[in-house]
Amino acid sequence: MEHDQLDELMVCRLSETRKTVEPCSVVIFGASGDLTARKLIPALYHLFKDKQMPPDFRVIGFARREKSDESWRQELHEALTQFSRSKPVDEAIWNDFATRVHYCMGEFTDPLAYQRLEKLLTSFGNEKLRNNVLIYLATSPSQFAECVENLSSANILHKGGEVGWQRIVVEKPFGHDLASATQLNSDLVKYAHERQVYRIDHYLGKETVQNILMFRFSNSLFERLWNRDSVDNVQITVSESLGVGGRGGYYEEAGALRDMVQNHLLQVMSLVAMEPPVSLDAEPIRDEKVKLLKSIRLLTPEMVAKQVVRGQYFAGTLGGQLKPGYRQEPKVAAESNTETFVALKLLVDNWRWSGVPFYLRTGKYLPLSASEVRIQFKPTPNILYSAMCGEKLDPNALTLRLQPNEGISLRFNGKVPGTSTSVRPVRMSFSYNSEFGAYTPEAYERLLLEAMAGDATLFIRRDEVEAAWSIVDAIRKGWEGHSLTNREFYAAGTWGPAAADELLAQRGHVWRNPQPST
Ligand code: BG6
Repeated sequence: MEHDQLDELMVCRLSETRKTVEPCSVVIFGASGDLTARKLIPALYHLFKDKQMPPDFRVIGFARREKSDESWRQELHEALTQFSRSKPVDEAIWNDFATRVHYCMGEFTDPLAYQRLEKLLTSFGNEKLRNNVLIYLATSPSQFAECVENLSSANILHKGGEVGWQRIVVEKPFGHDLASATQLNSDLVKYAHERQVYRIDHYLGKETVQNILMFRFSNSLFERLWNRDSVDNVQITVSESLGVGGRGGYYEEAGALRDMVQNHLLQVMSLVAMEPPVSLDAEPIRDEKVKLLKSIRLLTPEMVAKQVVRGQYFAGTLGGQLKPGYRQEPKVAAESNTETFVALKLLVDNWRWSGVPFYLRTGKYLPLSASEVRIQFKPTPNILYSAMCGEKLDPNALTLRLQPNEGISLRFNGKVPGTSTSVRPVRMSFSYNSEFGAYTPEAYERLLLEAMAGDATLFIRRDEVEAAWSIVDAIRKGWEGHSLTNREFYAAGTWGPAAADELLAQRGHVWRNPQPST
């Protein structure tokens, strides 16, 4: 059957593709920052271009530096030409979009600045633009509490949202440990109801990450294998071929564990491993994710020593170029112990997953950038082909390629044609590009749209972020007072320290590295 025929027969629309969004204002705190220029404005521009923005809207940048509306628009235009996912920028659309872009200068600590913001919102002469406000906190977490308090005093943010709606989108990092995240949560809910708080993890806006639930719960084939009876181990790899570059200052405080594991990797893991929710509404889905995070066995310092491997890159060659060591990066301490790589084994103490290791790993300056989940199935009984081939008989595996080369592939064994009996793994592959054509909206487009529409499914709930920090805090406790040893360094351009391979070897497992896109 041709693809278009399949589409006609099979497409079952679960929701309107175009969400209804009421007119609103999007106020970005930290407007001069990198995120605004690289991600937020390009995302809003594309939503506008695709006619997904509400009929009337305003975008307001709030930041310290002195700028006029016009100079900010020009800066954003330059950034858009560089970072837009579709080039060239459509000038007519940009000009139309730019008339709705404004700048409000002010210190986050200055109540008068918030009064100016209130006046600006009122000056639009439209109650919806004044009262429906998406507040995007893209500042440092230490400023979040003060911003919301001032927004509340200036009558822009109303707890419970009795006048229009106000929602706060909070960028990561959400705190730096459980105590600070709990404090931040308490600060936010003084001025906003939990349902007004949208904690962002951009991985949840990725099409392939959203597809994990659809893949699991709309197919009968795999879900019945999705448990300890059939699955031998699960490997989640998020590798990056970039180093920390200019982000040394931030990264020194964060490290790979806080920067990637606490959020992106644990989010992917919770979608892969959670139980089916009772419905597709936001709360049942989040309930199941929290339940899963809470079933992850917390590591004691002794377990950390055996189950967690950290690493830091030293100078090495990647893509034919010499890359500096982490300690030579700008704003990084010469004796820094910050990890740029983590590999860990987690166990889930629930009925479905008891005894199945979940291996997670992430790192900077690894050989290639790729995120994937590999479900490694158990081998066949040791008779017939298995008895003859021994370990050479490849166990079946399903790989969800989250990025790049988005798709899913199933690896199984097949007979090599010919008179001799030879077996070798073959692959059945689904590729997003060849099936659906290139469709690459940025995660931030989807997330901004969902936040404007008031759907919190793709955002992280308070108890979820706290459960994730408990897991990470337990690991950090195990590292306390231990400087990196020689075994924990890896050359840029390699797959991390050798100890990461030894971690899997304890159970006879091996990492399956993502393959370069062809
Ligand atoms: C961010 C981290 O959250 O995610 C970065 O702070 C990392 O260090 C990035 O590079 C990875 O995101 P993506 O979408 O490029 O996989």
